[in-house]
This record gives sequence, C-alpha cells and structure tokens, in this order.
Amino acid sequence: MLVIGSDHGGLELKQAVVALLQQRRVECTDLGTDGSDSVDYPDFAAKVASAVSTGKADLGILICGTGIGMSITANKYAGVRAALVHDEFTAQMAREHNNANILVMGGRILTPEQGCKLVEVWLDTEFAAGRHLNRLNKIMALEN
Ligand code: RB5
Repeated sequence: MLVIGSDHGGLELKQAVVALLQQRRVECTDLGTDGSDSVDYPDFAAKVASAVSTGKADLGILICGTGIGMSITANKYAGVRAALVHDEFTAQMAREHNNANILVMGGRILTPEQGCKLVEVWLDTEFAAGRHLNRLNKIMALEN
C-alpha cells in the first residue's frame, strides 16, 4: 500500500500522480491536502512518514513546492528513507542505491508530466542490494 500527501504547493502534481497510480492499479491512500488553501507541509509529511515508519504503508510520496521541507520532515522518522528527486537519474538512483521508501518532489519545479515520469521510474526500479545494503544498515544504525 502506498500513501501520498502534499501541501498546497504540491497539490496539482499530487492530483496527477494519484491519477497515474489509479491507472497503474497501485493501491493508494491520499492523506491530503485536498484544497488550494495554504497549509503547513510538516503536517502532511508527518502523516505519510508515520504510516511508512510504522509499517502501515510500504511506500510514500510527498510533494511540496520544492520538496525540501517534506524531505527534511519525513527523514525525522525511523526507518524512513525519503529522497528528493529532480530528474529520471535521481529517481532511479533513489531506489537502486538508496532503496528510498518515500519519493519526494517539488510541485513548483516539475510539470505534472515530468513528476509522473519520475514516479514511474521509481516504482519500476529495483533495489540493487549488495554493497548498498551495507550502507543502508549504517544509516539504520544511526537511528539507534
Ligand atoms: C510553501 O510555500 C513552501 O514553502 C512549501 O511548499 C515547500 O516548498 C517547503 O519546503
């Protein structure tokens, strides 16, 4: 199960991504925001990151204006590897090397088409494991 959230700055891209996920038959829960009123991105990052951290969701997607605030907030949660991506290469590496369980994007940086392409790359890429697993274990050790 995948959870998705945005602030007002990420709403348009989030709506496009939700439509893409429905088209791909990916089970997805939208945790808001639902309108264009100004809201605080940490509230929505917390909802998505908490669901991933506790295992209620396998994956998450967060979108704000730049993606910066969402990634800073989400990475406060244990077990969360939130990666801010800007292009197809970083979307691929976020999964292949970092096994990112939350994809973060900037709705004021990417067009809906560009953002949807990055989601597809992230979903369709596999974690390479091997030496990268050892590195993720070192990140996890820092949480303890
Ligand atoms: C909201 O104006 C903006 O600060 C937010 O969407 C995000 O870019 C924060 O990192």
